[in-house]
Amino acid sequence: MKKKAFLAAIVGCMGMLMSCGGNENTCGKSDASEAVIENIMTRTSIRKFNDVPIAVDTLNLLVKAGMAAPTAMNQQPWDFIIVTEREMLDSLNSVKPWFNLKTATAAIVVCGNLKKTADGNENGYWVQDCSAATENILLAAHAYGLGAVWCGVYPNQEIVPDVTRLLQLPDSIIPLNVITMGHPADDPAPKDKFKQDNIHYQKW
Ligand SMILES: Cc1cc2nc3c(=O)[nH]c(=O)nc-3n(C[C@H](O)[C@H](O)[C@H](O)COP(=O)(O)O)c2cc1C
Repeated sequence: MKKKAFLAAIVGCMGMLMSCGGNENTCGKSDASEAVIENIMTRTSIRKFNDVPIAVDTLNLLVKAGMAAPTAMNQQPWDFIIVTEREMLDSLNSVKPWFNLKTATAAIVVCGNLKKTADGNENGYWVQDCSAATENILLAAHAYGLGAVWCGVYPNQEIVPDVTRLLQLPDSIIPLNVITMGHPADDPAPKDKFKQDNIHYQKW
């Protein structure tokens, strides 16, 4: 019910924002687009899970959704590590308890691959590229009824080395985040973050 009320408010706001300059026909609105917007607006971080595992095929599809993200110069400077073994999930959780892996049944570690970037160093757009992939994975997980939370690793140099060591990552691979996931055992309401004041038209 909380979610329905939230969604009604959001859909109302989106309706105002997406009035398409007064011409509704230019929006391309359809049941499918409404479903996509609803999926975006109702995603929220989930940190408690039941013990039902996520099928490997589903995890692969989530990563495929990640790889559909836009990247600078289409470099796709990423690699993804799917972790489902309890021992590794627990080891990662011991690096940083707020990875929330205690009850998670899977994690996808999104990594930047510096060998796939134009300049081969940390200065390029790999963080943005991998972040776009991460959001795609979160949205796809939500669309499948799964719960997930983005847990940051890079640039926290207190935890990058431990994650690197545990996952045996080569030098050119940098773990950007751990996406903790599972079947939800919690149903938090999505946060309403919309603030009209954050939007500026034409200039500041
Ligand atoms: C870069 C980044 C790092 C984050 N790191 C953590 C984390 O270590 N642990 C955690 O529980 N949540 C983490 N989060 C999730 C945020 O706390 C969460 O997205 C935020 O509170 C907004 O809530 P929502 O995802 O439900 O909209 C992170 C999110 C981002 C984008």
